[in-house]
Amino acid sequence: MSSSPFRTGEIVSDEHFTDRADEVATVRRAMLSSGRLLLVGERRQGKSSILRQAGLHARARDATLVSVDLWTATRLEEVLRRIIAAVPWGWSWRERLQGLWLGLGLRLGIQSDARGQPTLRLEASPGELGSEGAREVFLQLLARLDAVAGEAETPVAVVLDEFQRLEEMEEGAAALLRSVIQESHHLAFVCAGSTVSLVDELTGPRGPLHGIFQELSVGPIDPPLLAAWIEDRMKTSGVAATEGTGAAVVRWGGPRTEDVLRLAREVWEGGVGEEATGPGDVPGAVRRLVMDRRAGYQRLWVELADSHRGVLRAMASGETQLTARDTIRRFDLPTPAAVVKAVDRLRDRGLLDAAGSAIADPFLRQWILLDAMPDGLDRTEGLAPDGEV
Ligand SMILES: Nc1ncnc2c1ncn2[C@@H]1O[C@H](COP(=O)(O)OP(=O)(O)O)[C@@H](O)[C@H]1O
Ligand SMILES: [Mg+2]
Repeated sequence: MSSSPFRTGEIVSDEHFTDRADEVATVRRAMLSSGRLLLVGERRQGKSSILRQAGLHARARDATLVSVDLWTATRLEEVLRRIIAAVPWGWSWRERLQGLWLGLGLRLGIQSDARGQPTLRLEASPGELGSEGAREVFLQLLARLDAVAGEAETPVAVVLDEFQRLEEMEEGAAALLRSVIQESHHLAFVCAGSTVSLVDELTGPRGPLHGIFQELSVGPIDPPLLAAWIEDRMKTSGVAATEGTGAAVVRWGGPRTEDVLRLAREVWEGGVGEEATGPGDVPGAVRRLVMDRRAGYQRLWVELADSHRGVLRAMASGETQLTARDTIRRFDLPTPAAVVKAVDRLRDRGLLDAAGSAIADPFLRQWILLDAMPDGLDRTEGLAPDGEV
C-alpha cells in the first residue's frame, strides 16, 4: 500500500496542509513584523498546523522562530527549558544570545535533539529555580532575546502554542507574559490557545492579557474547499474517488479538521485496490473507525456519572431540548438544573463542543448510538451525520 495522503495526530504542513491561506498570511505577517497575534479555536481544528506552515514561510524570509508547545509542560520552569532548547542552533546570533543568558547566571549546556542536532540546554536540576526564580528568569530570558532581536535586524518570533497552559500551571503567569510582551520592542509574539473558556477569561475585559493581542479565530476549513482537496488527494494517490466522496467525508467527519482527515484516511484505505470509491463507502468507514475506538469509548463510558451518560445519549439521538419534560422522561435525566450542570461538566471535559450543544467527537456519537443506548440496540442504521435530519 502506498503511504496515506492524509495525516492525523501530528502537526501538518506542506502537501499535507490545505487552505487556511488567510490565516497563514496573517500569522506570517505577524511573525515578520513584531506582531502580537493570538489564534483561538477548539482543539483538533488546525491551529498548530497553521503556526507550522506560517513558520515555514516566515523562515524562508529570514525570520528566526523560537517555537514552543506548552501543552505538556507542568510548571513555569519547564517553559524556560523549552524556550532555551528551541533557539535554533544555526542562528547566527545564537552565541551572542547564549552569552547574554550566561550573564544572567544561568548554567547552559548542550544536548542533542531527536534528530541528533545540537540544542541549548538549561543545566539547573528540576525545582532548583523555584517558582519565584522561574518568574524572574522568564522575564530576563525574553528581555535578552528581545535585545538580540534588536541587534540582529532580522525578524525574531516567539511562538507559544497552547499558551493558556501558562496560567493553568501558575496563577499570574499570564500577567507575566503581558509584561514580557509590553516591554519587548523587537520580538513578535504569536500564540495559540485551545481551552476556549480560559482563553476568553485571559483576554476578556478583566483578564491580564486584555487588549494585548490581535485575535484570529480558527474554525472549520471551508467545507467545499476541504472536500475538493480530499478528493484530489485520493485521486493522486491511487484511489478513484467519485464525485461527492469528499463532501460526504466532510459531512460525516463533523466540524473538526482532524476528525475529517481521520475519516478521509479510513475511506482512502478502504478504497486502495478497489475500482472506485464513492460517497456510499463513507458510512462503512465511519463504522470501522468507531469499532477501532470501541475499547476507549467503553472505558470512558463506564467512568461517567449516570446523568452524564443520559445527556450524551440524548444528544447522540439528536435531542436539542435537553431540559424539556419529555426529553427528561425519555432519557431518564435528572432535574433541569442538574442537566445544565452535567452539560457544563461535559463541556469542560472537552466531550461537548464549546457551545455545549453537541458531542465534540462524531465517532463517539456514533458509538453511543451503536453500543450504548438503554436497550443496547443499534440506532445507527440509516443515520445521517450529526446536525442533519
Ligand atoms: N490545514 C490543514 N490541512 C489538512 N489537515 C489539517 C489542517 N489543519 C489541521 N489538519 C488536521 O487536523 C489535525 C490537527 O491539527 P492541529 O494543527 O494539531 O490542530 P490544533 O492545534 O488546533 O489542535 C492534523 O493532524 C491534521 O490531520
Ligand atoms: Mg495544537
